[in-house]
Amino acid sequence: MTVSYTDLASRPLLTQPIYEAGRPIEVVAREFGLNPSDVIKLASNENPLGPSPLGLAAAHKALESLHLYPDSGCTFLRERLGKMWNLPPNQFVVGNGSNEVMLLLAQAFLRPGDEVIFGSQAFVVYKLATTLFGATPVEVPMPGYRHNLKAMRQAVTDRTRILFLASPNNPTGGVDEPSEIVALAESLPDHVIFCLDEAYAEFLDKTADLLPLLRSGRKVVITRTFSKVYGLAGLRIGYLVGSAEVCGLLNRVRQPFNVNLVALAAAQAALDDTEFLKRTLKVNAEGLVQLATGFQKLGFEYIDGRANFLAVKVPGADAVFNRLQRQGIIIRPLRGYGMTDWLRVTVGTPAQNTRLLTALAG
Ligand SMILES: Cc1ncc(COP(=O)(O)O)c(C=O)c1O
Repeated sequence: MTVSYTDLASRPLLTQPIYEAGRPIEVVAREFGLNPSDVIKLASNENPLGPSPLGLAAAHKALESLHLYPDSGCTFLRERLGKMWNLPPNQFVVGNGSNEVMLLLAQAFLRPGDEVIFGSQAFVVYKLATTLFGATPVEVPMPGYRHNLKAMRQAVTDRTRILFLASPNNPTGGVDEPSEIVALAESLPDHVIFCLDEAYAEFLDKTADLLPLLRSGRKVVITRTFSKVYGLAGLRIGYLVGSAEVCGLLNRVRQPFNVNLVALAAAQAALDDTEFLKRTLKVNAEGLVQLATGFQKLGFEYIDGRANFLAVKVPGADAVFNRLQRQGIIIRPLRGYGMTDWLRVTVGTPAQNTRLLTALAG
């Protein structure tokens, strides 16, 4: 053979970074000869309380209809979201995780030569989505692992198409001041789409209110997920809020049945699960304090955060990651984000947090 698949592949694909997911419990258990029920995963910012009970019950019920295609238009969920956001249903696009809606955005708007702005330690999917469509990532340095919104604004050129910002940011956990986020969105020229990634927004007391800008016709979109506070990461469902025009364009890119029937039913029910939401927020707030106090006692630097995880600096982080895996604790090394010696740990139950801190001390 003289022509390989690699020769034939689209050029951007060859430099495409690879997403490194948190390692699954069963895989780690098999690798280290552990009982899966003894392994805890604090690696992917999942909900340690499990799925929303209302979501789970709806998922069980939906299983009886597995012979049917899902509602391609996600009608009821978009109507429910419309009530929640006080917007018409045609201003939502539901995706296979918020990850997918970000990819739809990239697919719809990015071409080679376009530029996409995000922080140097921003969620890696922004870079993946950018390079996949041949656009150029513009990574703005994050001093002290915090966004520099001013520098992000200054990075805008005529070629900028999208600016991604997550608050709280993953993997650092840092939160930007809501008023500064609004000011940034307001300051952008008309050819730039501002994508505010609110995967962890439910954990905050106060979020940036971009709806006035959205209503006034500014190019802002917001993404949310059911993977975190609602505990439905395994079902893969998230959504984008934007103008009817942008949603219409994304619907042309979207596969007809991109969101499965079980996910749709569970997500809709989970939105009403206020008791679970409250419990999740309480356990998380207490867990953040428990972990932060533990890190202080161990003398580890950490980034103050409000989401359901913390980034912590631990000497020999890679070796610690491996040692903890052998002990049945899965966390996330951040070397891939250029944060050597940093680990990201998800807030667990009180018992899981204690187990993690004890293992880190050893
Ligand atoms: C900042 C941020 N955005 C988006 C996502 C994607 O979430 P999902 O695709 O599960 O909705 C994540 C997942 O970890 C995240 O941390």
